[in-house]
Amino acid sequence: MINDFKPTVSAVSSAVEKVDADALVLGVAKSPEGPVLLPNPLADKAAKGVADSLKALGASGSADQLLRLPGVDGFKSETLVLIGVGPLTGEPDGGVSPEALRRAAGSAVRQLSGADAVALALPAATVEQVSAVAEGAVLGAYNFPHFRGSEEARSKTPVAEIAVLTELKDKHTKQAVSRAAVVGDAVRATRDLVNTPPSHLYPESFAETVLQAAKSTKVKTKVWDVKDLQKEGFGGLLGVGGGSSRGPRMVRMEHSPSRPVAHIALVGKGITFDSGGLSLKPSNAMTTMKLDMAGAASVAAVVLAAAELNLPVKVTGWLCLAENMPSATAQRPEDVITIYGGKTVEVLNTDAEGRLVLADGIVAASEEHPDAIIDIATLTGAQMIALGNRTVGAMGAEDLREDLVDAAQEAGESLWGMPIPEEAISTFDSDVADLTNTGAREGGMLNAAAFLREFVGQKPGADPKALDPESQRIPWVHLDIAGPSFNSKGPWGYTPKGGTGVMVRTLITYLESAAKA
Ligand code: BES
Ligand code: MN
Ligand code: ZN
Repeated sequence: MINDFKPTVSAVSSAVEKVDADALVLGVAKSPEGPVLLPNPLADKAAKGVADSLKALGASGSADQLLRLPGVDGFKSETLVLIGVGPLTGEPDGGVSPEALRRAAGSAVRQLSGADAVALALPAATVEQVSAVAEGAVLGAYNFPHFRGSEEARSKTPVAEIAVLTELKDKHTKQAVSRAAVVGDAVRATRDLVNTPPSHLYPESFAETVLQAAKSTKVKTKVWDVKDLQKEGFGGLLGVGGGSSRGPRMVRMEHSPSRPVAHIALVGKGITFDSGGLSLKPSNAMTTMKLDMAGAASVAAVVLAAAELNLPVKVTGWLCLAENMPSATAQRPEDVITIYGGKTVEVLNTDAEGRLVLADGIVAASEEHPDAIIDIATLTGAQMIALGNRTVGAMGAEDLREDLVDAAQEAGESLWGMPIPEEAISTFDSDVADLTNTGAREGGMLNAAAFLREFVGQKPGADPKALDPESQRIPWVHLDIAGPSFNSKGPWGYTPKGGTGVMVRTLITYLESAAKA
């Protein structure tokens, strides 16, 4: 979307002697007996030279360990590279999980940045394994040089040509590899948007970027500017965005195949910078707050990927874009705003802004009666306290939540179901409006979900007298990605520093399973 760089990835079934790459990568796993070289029949000859000397070479099999050896005589590849895969699982399939392969492939490609072409001779005996290796590799081929000063730095690209060595050559293998390319593009686009500084990414430019990206596809788009938002009463976006000289936007995206089997709505928090507003954040808490649009970025990337993959599911994406700034026109603590659709909220803390813009988006999405609504947001600091920096919290309708957790498991992402306690919503009681925007501090991630649920519409034909009113709502799940959306520590596996693109793969996998159901 922002970056034109796209690695090419292909399945190659020729013996490794013939493969002309800058590096040939073999996998080393940890076993109880020490490091073991993982099999790939196409690389038998290259493997012979190193299999018995792993210990002597210092290869441990630990994840992310990369060793470069001089190329072996008779091979075209200049270097032989050993990448650690981590411990064997003891499973009969060779003992490496798809996620271990993804990480190993990604780690190798990431660390080999500077090389043009890389051939991966990791285990690739099944379509699932080929898919994992290809996906990990394209996820590892990432950099973000656009804001460097020198031409030289800006022109540095990651590994551009990836070959996955496999004896398989059926159409499922080819499909798996081209799917991996689409998934890689989606994740990298999300990372780019997250990494783009707030000087350059603000509601208008975000909307413009998405429109540009959708132009060459069948995805339909609609943008509400400030006037449109006022006319239709999007009080959450207007309240949050009111303090900025760069006004808010709502973007609707639509992928509509001819005979859709379901309609899934995705709603993303898109705060292009969260200063806290008048409830100003301390300076330390403000750095990284360019990440606060990661939800909207992933929604945009997933809708485009759904179109690219021709999924027979209708997908609508709602990007709730605003910049949260303090100024004379900013909303004040104690203001009352009217969310799209009419519910009122007393804003007690202007830093609890994500739920306000999402409320507008969830009500708007509900009006179209989708079969399910999934919102994704960097919503609470409490998410990190509860689940850390690598595990996303999922709250809401049980069946949908479990389907998403299953999709995450398949995609290799960490998603954990969390409850919405029954007492949570009463902590939002306001003296003057329908709700306040701040609930109890304890269980802050769960409470925020209780607030959002108030804005989820009823199913068509809902029974207003139903004993369990929650059962009458459109199935909805809230994903809190506050911590996992951004990696402030060192890179690992296929995950770079900075924006991660977390949940993009899970959402694509979920849409694929919805397409099959
Ligand atoms: N964008 C933040 C949440 C966040 C914090 C994301 C750190 C990523 C890293 C959100 O808008 C926020 O400020 N939440 C407040 C809510 C509180 C005022 C009720 C929080 O979590 O402290
Ligand atoms: Mn905030
Ligand atoms: Zn925020």
